[in-house]
Amino acid sequence: MAEEKQLKGTYYITTPIYYPSSDLHIGHTYCTVMADAMARFKRLEGYDVHFLTGTDEHGLKIMQKAQEKGVTPQEYVDDVVGRIQKLWATMEISYDDFIRTTQERHVKRVQAIFNKMNDKGDIYEGKYEGWYCTPCESYWTESQLVNGCCPDCGRPVEWASEHAYFFRLSKYQDRILALLQDTDFLQPETRRNEMIEFVKQGLEDLCISRSTFDWGIKVPIDDTNVIYVWLDALVNYITALGYPDDPELYDKFWPADTQLVGKEIVRFHSIIWPGILMSLDLPMPQHVMGHGWLLIDGGKMSKSKGNVVDPVFLIDRYGIDALKYFLLREYTFGQDGVFTNEVMIKRLNFDLANDLGNLVSRTVAMIEKYCGGDVPQALTEDDIDRSLKEVAVNAAPTLAEHMNEFRFNLALEAVWVLVRRANKYIDEKMPWVLAKDEARKAELNTCLYNLTDALRIISILIQPFMHTTSEEMRKQLGISDEPIVWEDAFEFGKTGAPHVTKGRPLFPRLDIEKELAELEAAKQAQMAEAKKKADKEAVNVELKPEIAFEDFDKIDLRVGTIMKAEKHPNADNLLIFKVRVGTEERQVISGVAGHYKPEEMLGKKVILVANLKPRQLRGEESNGMLLFARDGKALKVVTTDAADGSTVN
Ligand code: MSP
Repeated sequence: MAEEKQLKGTYYITTPIYYPSSDLHIGHTYCTVMADAMARFKRLEGYDVHFLTGTDEHGLKIMQKAQEKGVTPQEYVDDVVGRIQKLWATMEISYDDFIRTTQERHVKRVQAIFNKMNDKGDIYEGKYEGWYCTPCESYWTESQLVNGCCPDCGRPVEWASEHAYFFRLSKYQDRILALLQDTDFLQPETRRNEMIEFVKQGLEDLCISRSTFDWGIKVPIDDTNVIYVWLDALVNYITALGYPDDPELYDKFWPADTQLVGKEIVRFHSIIWPGILMSLDLPMPQHVMGHGWLLIDGGKMSKSKGNVVDPVFLIDRYGIDALKYFLLREYTFGQDGVFTNEVMIKRLNFDLANDLGNLVSRTVAMIEKYCGGDVPQALTEDDIDRSLKEVAVNAAPTLAEHMNEFRFNLALEAVWVLVRRANKYIDEKMPWVLAKDEARKAELNTCLYNLTDALRIISILIQPFMHTTSEEMRKQLGISDEPIVWEDAFEFGKTGAPHVTKGRPLFPRLDIEKELAELEAAKQAQMAEAKKKADKEAVNVELKPEIAFEDFDKIDLRVGTIMKAEKHPNADNLLIFKVRVGTEERQVISGVAGHYKPEEMLGKKVILVANLKPRQLRGEESNGMLLFARDGKALKVVTTDAADGSTVN
């Protein structure tokens, strides 16, 4: 056995690293549960598995979240990451390593990677002018926008104009296209075709640094820039293995066997990530697998709508194994799926309480009743027995075939074919009738033995998906001391003569109506809470007294570009700007030093009250006033993409 395990080799599987911008919901859980099931399955098969997950902690989005909360970005992420790690511990996610991009091991390796790419001649300096979607941390050109918004998430984009470093991604366009076209690197097929089309339209070089904020890893050759958060994040899959300075794990596990990612980040993983690896002369991962989204009420879950499904709530109510089973059994890999309470409750009731739970409790109860708890021997065989055995030994190879294609739902269905067959076997054999006839004692014994052995096989097959249930079953069957061996699932008749003991029901039967009513009430309460919070945060609109149009028309509002920004030498809260307004350049002072660093304002196209009487502010002249919106405690500059000098009315 041990020898065989040696032969199977290594298996490296990764999840995306999650943004700790807020707590994770069931959509994130879905991806991690799939990775966990695959890791456990491969371990069971005998592979030396390395399972990596983690958190993606830098970037503008996180920085803004921290600012809103009035804490440092590090404090902010430490808090959320703590809860993410707790969630994975609760769910018994069997990762081997958890990488945080703020860890020193990652930071130094990202810088080493930047230097390598630079030494290769793949990085150059320039100026980025284009659009940026902060929620997706993604750059877009004008022509890629859809109705002026991010083509991925549909939210507004911001204009970015800043000094930056670029990666010569275009250099690798042909190799990336060949990778997508000639191999099964990217799955499923639909995603692959989308990406092939994307690359065929031509790849532009990628901006890989930002200079207008500082929450990131410093560019090693220029500390006024931080490395673009996606370059920082993507390389986690190799920095966690020690690349480049500590290659032991890297040599053992790279290239990854499977990288699981959600469909909206397939582009980063199948184009930019291979480009980076090509620049580093490293091999490509075997497979990038794009999964679909879990949708609710027909759309994505959203914290502000209050319709986020909280995995902790479901675990508290139904248990870890039930939640994992539902996620893996209900949805088809690669496709979107709709989450509803009804679908979930029915799955749990029918598959777990009725089918599996019942099979175990009936079998154990009958062995206790008819044989005093001792599993008898099987000395007879008829067609019904043969049919059960055939289904039982076919389950493992079918399951393995589906798992190797990421068809988790069909893999579990293969087990349930056996579960249902075994239940039907009881109905066909009617052991309670056999028990009444002493002459049929041997048949009764065979029936009870075969059921025990079918359950033994089931306990092995469900182990990667529901290990606690598997253990509980084995305890009741009296075989919990025996190690779980994958190959034992291929053979019928391996159960010795254990003593069974009735235990707790594996899954309680749910009252569907009652359960749905309670879940709905909980959802309404959560939505009401979210609304209350939103109302509280909403700006209380108390308007100033009405003015005549002529009064407003006296104000000359103009678009200007911030050419220079610095701290006021005599006032902590003031920033001094040089603003270009058409052909004129003037000095304007604003009390926003607590909200913006001078460099964050550089290049912004702002709106200026241009005919305001100049005034002295702590010894410096301010000639005009910039417009800022007050957002809670934060001041946010009002920007536009119109040419400077333009009038605003
Ligand atoms: N930080 C990046 C990933 C960097 S990997 C080098 C990121 N993080 S994320 O937290 O926004 O998303 C992480 C993963 O969660 C993505 O694969 C995404 O598809 C997945 N999901 C987020 N919401 C989801 C659903 N509602 N349903 C299924 N998966 C979802 O992107």
